Amino acid sequence: MPLLTFPDGFQWGAATAAYQIEGACREDNRGLSIWDTFTHQPGTIQDGATGDVACDHYHRMQEDVDLMAGLGLQAYRFSVSWSRVMPFGKGAINEKGLAFYDRLIDALLAKNIEPMLTLYHWDLPQSLQDLGGWANRSITDWFADYANLMFERYGDRVKKWVTLNEPYIFTDIGHRRGVMAPGIRDLAIYGRTIHHAHLAHGKAVQALRASGKGGEIGITNANSSYEPADDTPETAAAVELARDFDSRLFHGPVFGKGYPQSVLDYHDARNASLPIEEGDMAIIASPTDFLGTNLYSRSLIQASPGRGVGFAFAAPRLPLLPMGYEAAPHALGDFVRWVSKEYGYPKIYITENGVCDNTEPGPDGQVNDATRVELLGGFLKGLHGAINDGCDVRAFYQWSLYDNFEWAFGNTKRFGMVYTDFDSLKRIPKRSAAWYSEVIRRNGVEG
Ligand code: NOJ
Repeated sequence: MPLLTFPDGFQWGAATAAYQIEGACREDNRGLSIWDTFTHQPGTIQDGATGDVACDHYHRMQEDVDLMAGLGLQAYRFSVSWSRVMPFGKGAINEKGLAFYDRLIDALLAKNIEPMLTLYHWDLPQSLQDLGGWANRSITDWFADYANLMFERYGDRVKKWVTLNEPYIFTDIGHRRGVMAPGIRDLAIYGRTIHHAHLAHGKAVQALRASGKGGEIGITNANSSYEPADDTPETAAAVELARDFDSRLFHGPVFGKGYPQSVLDYHDARNASLPIEEGDMAIIASPTDFLGTNLYSRSLIQASPGRGVGFAFAAPRLPLLPMGYEAAPHALGDFVRWVSKEYGYPKIYITENGVCDNTEPGPDGQVNDATRVELLGGFLKGLHGAINDGCDVRAFYQWSLYDNFEWAFGNTKRFGMVYTDFDSLKRIPKRSAAWYSEVIRRNGVEG
């Protein structure tokens, strides 16, 4: 098979997030976050797991960085726990928490692994939630202050910043569907959180520029490749509507195109308007340096006239992964082509892509995660095609380094290229880890 080579300088990495891996939730003055509260409410998490220990990364940080270096990773995307560095979300800072990320960043750099720091990966300090959280406009300033602290402390060594991880997910699933923290089901609150998340992003971008620290900043969105379930014009229109309520809602304002009218109308008609004030859209459109793209699957869309938003998800046709969505390796290249064209070919980092494959160790102790290897190969092949077609993709961060706490699914879903034994906390590199090391070494994938 030919080797599909990626451009020179293409970076290969892995991604994680604080609450999903760190544990040590009550140590060294860390404040509580909405995920601490949520996971301790009975019935919220599929297997009753919490992030209290997770992968115990807080205590095993050096071991984990050594693991990354052993795999040959060139870059690592992690998030900072806001309540570890500012226990109440604003005001007092926690030097012990700050020191942990200092050590992590230094350990990465010592191994030539470039850090990418996500400011917000869903673990809002509980004290801020008590003040209304993302529904309170003041959060845009609390977030900018926190971002400033991060730029000030780490901006000498961190040169890639992600403002928010997947605002679509934490606004929608956290505030409309109530299945993730903070567990709210309220369309009006949801409308407010959408706009405040955007504004917080814009203010953080401006704060980095004002800090004079240099470095790149962008947002990471959740994505799906939207595809029509049939080839009628009604279905084609439904696909565009589906894109409005997800892709265009979260990319449009950042790229200066504003919110889709269909979404504004939907919220206005339901007393759940987005609380846009004069000047906000210009702040949100502050130029970014890259677009962070997360993608795991595709969505098959059909028309649903007269009902709700006017589109619906059609029955899946491809094999399903344990997450309940389709195994659709073509989706990454397709989405990257779509988003590149729609927004003028921005520089893209694939900040997450990966596969849920729950394979357990065999009798020999090895983890043969064949589905992950096969699908990742397909995703990368598609991505390579998109790059050949002119898309400006510069990096790929696999989700995830190791199996970790998968939010409302607890520990029941495994995304790691390294297996985590959640009892002994032993890490066992899977077959996909060896495979990925080869991809990195050759800067390419077999096509
Ligand atoms: C998206 C999220 O950013 C991450 O936290 C999650 O674990 C993965 N996707 C897998 O579902």
